[in-house]
Formats: sequence, structure tokens, C-alpha cells
Amino acid sequence: MNTVLVGAQWGDEGKGKVIDFLTEEADVVVRFQGGSNAGHTVVVGDKKYVLHLVPSGVLHEGKHCVIGNGVVMDPFDLMKELEQVESWGFELKGRFHISERAHMVMQWHRAIDRAEEAARPAGRKIGTTGRGIGPAYAAKVGRYGMRVGDILKPNFLDVVRAQVEEANRALEALGAHPLDAEEMVKLYTPMVAALMPYVTDTIQFMHESLEAGKSVLFEGAQATMLDVDFGTYPFVTSSNPTAGGACTGSGVSPRAIDRVIGVLKLYTTRVGEGPFPTELKDADGETLRRRGGEFGATTGRPRRCGWFDAVVARYAQRVNGVDFWAMTKLDVLDEFETVKICTGYRRDDGFVYQTFPADLAVLDRCEPVYEELPGWKCETSHVTRYEDLPENARKYVERVLELVGGKLGVLSVGPARETTLRIGV
Ligand code: IMP
Repeated sequence: MNTVLVGAQWGDEGKGKVIDFLTEEADVVVRFQGGSNAGHTVVVGDKKYVLHLVPSGVLHEGKHCVIGNGVVMDPFDLMKELEQVESWGFELKGRFHISERAHMVMQWHRAIDRAEEAARPAGRKIGTTGRGIGPAYAAKVGRYGMRVGDILKPNFLDVVRAQVEEANRALEALGAHPLDAEEMVKLYTPMVAALMPYVTDTIQFMHESLEAGKSVLFEGAQATMLDVDFGTYPFVTSSNPTAGGACTGSGVSPRAIDRVIGVLKLYTTRVGEGPFPTELKDADGETLRRRGGEFGATTGRPRRCGWFDAVVARYAQRVNGVDFWAMTKLDVLDEFETVKICTGYRRDDGFVYQTFPADLAVLDRCEPVYEELPGWKCETSHVTRYEDLPENARKYVERVLELVGGKLGVLSVGPARETTLRIGV
């Protein structure tokens, strides 16, 4: 069974936890896009692990983990993370693979990311994670990027020198400090030896695994509304976190995919700038942030919080072809008198958007249309069977499902592994 797992909102839906339990049934886990801008939090027993680049499958001994060709990988972030994973007691040898076709995020991409963000005027800022993601993808599609396979070539350090000089011109134009090319060369020299053992032709590896009947889990990072094509452009990341990205980012055909699982938080959050129709700037938003622990795993930034948006989720259902939903964080809603679901955006002239508009400017003229449902006012995080949930909680979940389509596969009512109710998957 080959499964693609995607985020259905603006990220931070709790994918790490869902990936972690789906990994139990997979042989190979592959990241297909994004880079260390992601932060997947997994709680095992009383230990909390945060991963950025390495697939969460690494927390399961014996599973193969792949950084696919669609990822942009910062070698320093990766080395740090690999050391950390080893210090937690997990063995990497023979089961961790980096695609030689993946592009690298270099120090100058990070510097340009920060300088570009600083130079953007108010209202145009994206609120990037500062991890160099945009400039690394720009280099990739601009055809001057550096691929992981390049570190194996004898002229690697000369290319580093040449690229630093080029990047310095951009940095100076942005009013930022230039980088020292020789310092960069010194920095990258030990990296070559450290990463070499993991560099693989992952396309070959993926196909051999599929031919041998292995199960593959495609681990999406970020989410549908941050997709460079389908999200709230330009307030997006620079990759395709939607289901199609699983193929282009790993070298596996769509024919090999058996199912798509979408992760959907039962309210909405967003970190960084950009439109967010159901955002709450009141006490209810504060309650969601406090109860949901809504602070970024990568940057520590407080997340913006709001009611569940069925327009977004329905759009995500279509774009990804979600078969099953993994709904998360139901327990965060436990203390509300009533809970709201946004079913459309009403423009000032009365027109109601049922699908997410491409032109973000129209959202300034819209108000969310809400359905209000009674809350359940009791703790749900101890519940281990769907039938044992309070009736109003079940009604809320079922109404969400009715509005967005797809089937319910997983319902999560707390951070620990045991609080994951499996319904249809
Ligand atoms: P970048 O990916 O660092 O370029 O950031 C672009 C936008 O995507 C910003 O609004 C970030 O806050 C957002 N973003 C990137 N990665 C994540 C993530 O893993 N979770 C939530 N938001 C993210």
C-alpha cells in the first residue's frame, strides 16, 4: 500500500503524529518537497522529537528514509539533525538515503532569503522561515542550483566560490552583508565527507523497493494552502506540498499511488503573513492558541488561530483527491460553549464564494459565513473509541465531513501516540 500524506490547510495540522503511526505499516518513508522550513513534532511515550528534514520514519528502527529529489536540503541542518537522531539512539547506516538529484540550500540562499524578506514593504512580507527555501528553489528552476550529487564532483569547491561571488552581488543590491567565499569553502569541506555515504540514486532505490512489493509512505511537509500553485500566492512556500508533488519529488509514477490521506486540524492556524479568512483576534483565538500549543516548531512564532474553514478543506479535498482524512486536535475545542464552521465567503455585494478565489484582493471584501454548532464542554483526550466521544463532538466531526467530502480515517484527540483513533484506515 503506497500512501501520500498531505496537509490540507496552512501547515501545522499535526502531520508528524499521523506520519509516525502510518510509518509502522510502511517500509520506506520519503520526503518529496520543502526543506528544513518544516517542523514535524512526534511524541513517543514521554519524549518529544522535532524533525525538520529527516523523514519521521527515522524514529522506527529498520525503516528506510529517503530525502527525495524534490526536497531542498541544507547540508548543515541535515548534519545537525542526523547527529541528533543518532544521539537519541536511532541507527542510520544503510537506511538513510539522500537523492543525488535533490538541490541544496546553501548559506547564501539563507542570507538572500532574509535580505529579501527584510526589503519587502509592509503588506508584501511573506513571513518566511528564513531557511533559504525560496532562493534555493529559484536557483533550481533558474538552472543554476547546486544538486547534492555536485558534492561528489572534484570542482565542488570552485563552484562554491563562484556562486558566493554571484550571490554577493545580489546581497549588496539588497543592502545586506556579503559572504566570504574562502570561509564558505572551509565550511563546506568537512560536509562532503560527512554526507557522501548517504548520497544515492534514490529513483533507482524507490523503484527497486516498489518492485519488491514494499510499502511506501510519501511524507508531505507544509500544506495545500502554502503550495506555490494552489495556495495563497504569493504568501506561500516555493514547492508543491500537494499530492502531485509526491510523484515529481520522488520519481514515482501516479500509477503507483494507492491512496491519499489529508491531515485536517479541526480548527485553522497559519504562521507567517497572508490571508486567513477565519482568523480570530479575540479571546476565542487566544483559547485555541493556548489549548492547542500553537507556537511554531521551527521558528517558535505564535500561530494565528481561527475557526474551521470548510472552503479551504473542500478545496484541499479536490486538489489532492483525499481518500481519507486524518482529523486532529478535536480536544482543543473541548471548552467552547459553541463551535463555528465557515461554509463560504460572502462578498460585500452578496455573492458567496464556495471555493477559494485565486485573486486574494477579493477576500478583503468578504466576510466568512458561519454555521454555529453546540460545544460539548468536556475533556475528550482520554477517549479511545469514536463511539465514546460526546454526541456534540461526533456531530461536529460529521458535519465537517459532510461539508468537505472524503471519508474519516483517523481522529486524534491528544498529542500522545495512544490518543489516535483509527476509524477507516
Ligand atoms: P518559506 O517556506 O520559509 O519560504 O516560508 C513561506 C511561508 O510558508 C511562510 O508563511 C511560512 O510561515 C510558511 N511555512 C513554511 N513552512 C511551514 C511549515 O512547515 N508549517 C507552517 N508554515 C510554514
